[in-house]
Amino acid sequence: MKLTVIGCGYLGATHAACMAELGHDVLGVDTDADKVARLKVGDTPFFEPGLSDVLRRNLSAGRLQFTTDVREAAAFASVHFLGVGTPQQRRGYGVDLGYVEAAVDALTPLLRGDHLVIGKSTVPVGTAAALAQRMAVLTAPGSRIELAWSPEFLREGFAVEDTLEPDRLVLGTDPDTAESTAEQIVTEIYCDILSTGVPFIRTDWATAELVKVSANAFLATKISFINAVSEICEAVGADVSTLADAIGHDKRIGRRFLNAGLGFGGGCLPKDIRGFIARADEVGATQSLRFLREVDAINTRRRTAMVDLVAHACGGDVLGANIAVLGAAFKPESDDVRDSPALNVAGQLALRGASVTVFDPKASQNSQRMYPMLAYATSAAEACEQADAVVVATEWAEFVHMAPEEISDVVRGRVIIDGRRCLDPQTWRDAGWRYHAIGGPMRA
Ligand code: UGA
Repeated sequence: MKLTVIGCGYLGATHAACMAELGHDVLGVDTDADKVARLKVGDTPFFEPGLSDVLRRNLSAGRLQFTTDVREAAAFASVHFLGVGTPQQRRGYGVDLGYVEAAVDALTPLLRGDHLVIGKSTVPVGTAAALAQRMAVLTAPGSRIELAWSPEFLREGFAVEDTLEPDRLVLGTDPDTAESTAEQIVTEIYCDILSTGVPFIRTDWATAELVKVSANAFLATKISFINAVSEICEAVGADVSTLADAIGHDKRIGRRFLNAGLGFGGGCLPKDIRGFIARADEVGATQSLRFLREVDAINTRRRTAMVDLVAHACGGDVLGANIAVLGAAFKPESDDVRDSPALNVAGQLALRGASVTVFDPKASQNSQRMYPMLAYATSAAEACEQADAVVVATEWAEFVHMAPEEISDVVRGRVIIDGRRCLDPQTWRDAGWRYHAIGGPMRA
């Protein structure tokens, strides 16, 4: 089948590559000429394991192309995925729908005949209904354009796997139309995936939009729940990691997303819970999502708690101390530093007068753009030179498996603070280090 993907950022580039991998003929469209030029040669503008291989394989098979020209997209196919970004508004908690609206405004008037537009971006409930009205005004006479919403659930670091082997597919269509062709077309597009028995949930626009933000809100709540409990553990000397293991054995709870530590960041969970709160206000349901404000507050508090812990480990103050921060990405296997807890902690330490040197295996460049006032090293050992304390802020495998001997002789003080509860305390203590973990003690 011929498809286009409008917007080739994280979501769109992955979707385009994976749809080609399924055997479809795909044209990716983005207004950013640099991004398109890189994608055309199979180069991803961001770090995502495995994506470059999928891109290159499908580019050379001739199933995948990229362009900046939306007119090409209109002529190329009759099915168009919308994968543009929906960031937080500059002011307030709401979602900025500017890119989605611009994409729809550019594409709709160019379409001739019957077309299906499938939104994949994360949007506030009610967006599809509003866009459909907008599109109706822009549709050329005699043409018929259907809008469906099929949210994406991929995780950074696992984008290819999550797209090709999703936990579920969700398709929302106009509840007031009897003439939808979306289900039949989407079934055809995803036939290889559906044949593996993946649940396929057909519903209305509003439910589909809400499924996505509810899923992210639930994940964020789970993380803040365990982090709130870890504050109690810290107060009484209990071990939140053992506690998480124990409650996680209950299948109704599950162990995943119960890792206490620095909390959640990235371009999705923080902005999605805020967007959800803002939308609840708009629809008159402010009370319902009030708890999400607390989820957000608990999460933000982790960062300050971490800075306090570093100060405590340094004898009460970080003023004048050399601090190595290992990790800048919001999570491992990513170079994304949007709302990164690691960088936030590094920035706060610098503001309190510490000399901070950051090392991240993939995210140093992005960090430098966002936090140019910090120093950056090209290896963990270099970051740790003359450090009074070492902070592990992102649980990259190379930090988790780092032997204390690799840095013991370059540091000034053997003090390590584990912001992700990912190190083995005994190993560090045996090597003569003082080990601290956010969220209370760790039983070795
Ligand atoms: C998240 C969702 O997991 C995806 O399902 C969703 O599709 C995506 O947002 C999106 O909306 O596009 P992602 O932002 O890639 O995916 O990252 P996650 O793996 O969910 O991690 C988010 C943050 O939570 C990270 O900072 C991570 O370190 C933190 N986290 C995760 C914890 O602090 N504790 C945990 O137990 C798990």
